[in-house]
Amino acid sequence: MIVKNICCIGAGYVGGPTMAIIAQKNPNLVVNVVDINKERINQWNSSDLSKLPIYEPGLDKVISETRGKNLFFSTDIDKHIDKSEMIFISVNTPTKTYGDGKGMAADLKYVELSARKIAKVAKTDKIVVEKSTLPVKTAAAIKNILDETGSGVRFEILSNPEFLAEGTAMRDLEVPDRVLIGGNESSSGKKAIKALVDIYLSWVPKDNILTTNLWSSELSKLVANAFLAQRISSINSISELCEKTGADVEEVAKAIGMDSRIGNKFLQTSVGFGGSCFQKDILNLVYIARSIGLKKVADYWNQVIIINNHQRKRFAKRILTSLYNTVSGKKIAFLGWAFKKNTNDTRESASIYVADLLLDEMANIDIYDPKVSSDKIYRDLNLLASRTENENKTLLKVSQNAYDACENAHAIAILTEWDEFKTIDWNRIYNNMNKPAFIFDGRNILEKKQVEKIGFIYKGIGKS
Ligand code: NAD
Ligand code: UGA
Repeated sequence: MIVKNICCIGAGYVGGPTMAIIAQKNPNLVVNVVDINKERINQWNSSDLSKLPIYEPGLDKVISETRGKNLFFSTDIDKHIDKSEMIFISVNTPTKTYGDGKGMAADLKYVELSARKIAKVAKTDKIVVEKSTLPVKTAAAIKNILDETGSGVRFEILSNPEFLAEGTAMRDLEVPDRVLIGGNESSSGKKAIKALVDIYLSWVPKDNILTTNLWSSELSKLVANAFLAQRISSINSISELCEKTGADVEEVAKAIGMDSRIGNKFLQTSVGFGGSCFQKDILNLVYIARSIGLKKVADYWNQVIIINNHQRKRFAKRILTSLYNTVSGKKIAFLGWAFKKNTNDTRESASIYVADLLLDEMANIDIYDPKVSSDKIYRDLNLLASRTENENKTLLKVSQNAYDACENAHAIAILTEWDEFKTIDWNRIYNNMNKPAFIFDGRNILEKKQVEKIGFIYKGIGKS
């Protein structure tokens, strides 16, 4: 099959940037990204590139080069499915919040709806590519749905999980460590794999494109995220040990990371990993293992989540105990709300959970984040439903800069490692704070000695 038109269902953090790069590198292809969310599509079509629905360094440039030429954003899902030879499913797959598997399994309702839509609309043969992160064996379910149409249309399913990280998405897409494509070993399966490989070959070296069977590809995505998150929980567990023993977690991370067998990446201790995927994908892995009776395997991976939750709570508790066991009526400034720097994404951000615990103690929180709107911050908190919306509004404020957020604060909590926090005028901040003034550095971005010289009481993670 010759692919000339691509449709991507889901214009989110993955669908948008991934399709923008595919369009940029394949000017001969026409790429239509479709979504049910009209507002999101309008934002993707905004002439003001600062209004794109997601913030990702370098994305605006690629969009300006491709949009309106061979990249289009639309809500006309049926039309673009029908006229494409290849359809990517890049919809969200959050943790289920209801029914069987609640709180653990991936909710596949959006994937299933997409498959049903394709089944209903398609009049010609299609290659359907799973871009979303899915439980192993999902391709079989998608295939069943598609084959039940009775329309005679043939579908070939591929798994092509995405490994980009937010904040570095454009670079990750431009020079991926690997592109993974899983497919059937039948002759039509091999042809479909080749069609997708050819698209990536426009810019990815052949040796970096790995083809496997469908189940290996689906499972590898979950396992990659589990391994990455496991490293963070490993170093975070050691951070607690460091605080009790006088060891410095950054020195330990450096020492172990110099062993080439361990490697130095993903050893940055933190207030806990956030983001839409690590937690959900490990929960999903645990759920799958448990469902097939592999209790020990499930318990092993579940421990990664247990340590992550513990790290968030431990951080909040440290603020409380350092501030003489009461934060009621005290102002605590939060620097950062996004789950990591260079993104406006706040899904599962550690800040949300730390704020929740401190608000339970009746603290007054003042937040500054360079890219997250106040609406989003309140929405994140209201979703937890720990307090009424009014209570959240009374206890929590959002400021437009770090200086306002920190004015008269008793303590500062650094929750996101935004570069601009490293170059703040800390003297000015200190002079306008309640004394003794504490900094709880949830990302270890500051030099302890430097801020202590000013007068701050510095509490980094994994430092006594
Ligand atoms: P997202 O929530 O940002 O985007 C998903 C989009 O799909 C939304 O805009 C939603 O409106 C749309 N959608 C849902 N159902 C639809 C339907 N039936 N028809 C049309 N549109 C529909 O999610 P995301 O962060 O882009 O993640 C998408 C998938 O990619 C997930 O499975 C995730 O695990 C995986 N993933 C995400 C990242 C990341 O960094 N965010 C990285 C790798 C993989
Ligand atoms: C992660 C993976 O890195 C991607 O490969 C994957 O495609 C993606 O999940 C996904 O499937 O969604 P992402 O969550 O965007 O990407 O960002 P990461 O850089 O992995 O950071 C995740 C969280 O871990 C952040 O809160 C970050 O601050 C934290 N982190 C990361 C640490 O606490 N320490 C580290 O050493 C690294």
